[in-house]
Amino acid sequence: MVREGNLKSAVQDQFGRVAANYLTSAVHAQGEDLPIMVEAAGLRGDERVLDAGCGAGHTAASFAPHAAEVEALDFTATMLRQVEVLAESRGLANISTRLGDVEKIPYTDSSFDLVVSRYSAHHWARPGTALREIRRVLRPGGMFVLSDVVGFGDPVCDTYLNAIELLRDPSHVRDYTVAEWSNQFAAAGFDFEIVFPYRIFLQFVEWTERMETPQANCIAIQALYDAAPKEVREALGITEEGHSFQCAVLRGRAA
Ligand SMILES: C[S@@+](CC[C@H](N)C(=O)[O-])C[C@H]1O[C@@H](n2cnc3c(N)ncnc32)[C@H](O)[C@@H]1O
Repeated sequence: MVREGNLKSAVQDQFGRVAANYLTSAVHAQGEDLPIMVEAAGLRGDERVLDAGCGAGHTAASFAPHAAEVEALDFTATMLRQVEVLAESRGLANISTRLGDVEKIPYTDSSFDLVVSRYSAHHWARPGTALREIRRVLRPGGMFVLSDVVGFGDPVCDTYLNAIELLRDPSHVRDYTVAEWSNQFAAAGFDFEIVFPYRIFLQFVEWTERMETPQANCIAIQALYDAAPKEVREALGITEEGHSFQCAVLRGRAA
């Protein structure tokens, strides 16, 4: 099938079809990074928080009990419906949803004390633009906490990682490396800190079914697994059941 439309419509099409899978996904609903993100933010309870690329809202729901208000922003409308379901089921009345693009955030300057983003940034084709927007909507001294899969400095491992990700999800852009994030944070006016490096294990069948990856692409991913040199197999933690990707919680304070 030949896809029509640009990258953003590819992300919206892809997540629009599978939004409900993300509400129930254990990888998204749980995860050792979530409590660490909350702790890294050091909230007092009176803050306004923006969750940028909120998906089904698991990150927004983790921050909501610790903040005054959480705005959950995503440009896939059906994902925002999942956020409403989640917020209602947990009795979290301080979460609001907003349709919008992280590259053009629909809020005025200095609207937030904290911006968070989890497992969304690998879809951002212009991370520099997104970070400048995040900086703009943060008050001076406000904080950005990001959690995502991160790429490899080693080019062979990095190519395999992003090829596998793209075969699984045509709206994947890039798992940026920690070094790339460090540069992007600095360019947008943030300091930069690695809070927590971690790995997530992704069971192959769950991982591809969640995204409704076509069978032909599943076969191509398996072919890449088989062709991968030893150092790639080790770096991607490839086993019979799946693989484990390296991730990081990163933090920046706005100058
Ligand atoms: C995997 S989901 C996010 C998961 C969620 N943050 C969590 O913790 O469970 C990725 C989301 O990023 C959103 N997204 C990607 N690019 C975006 C952009 N430029 N602006 C707004 N949302 C975006 C997609 O629509 C999708 O809902």
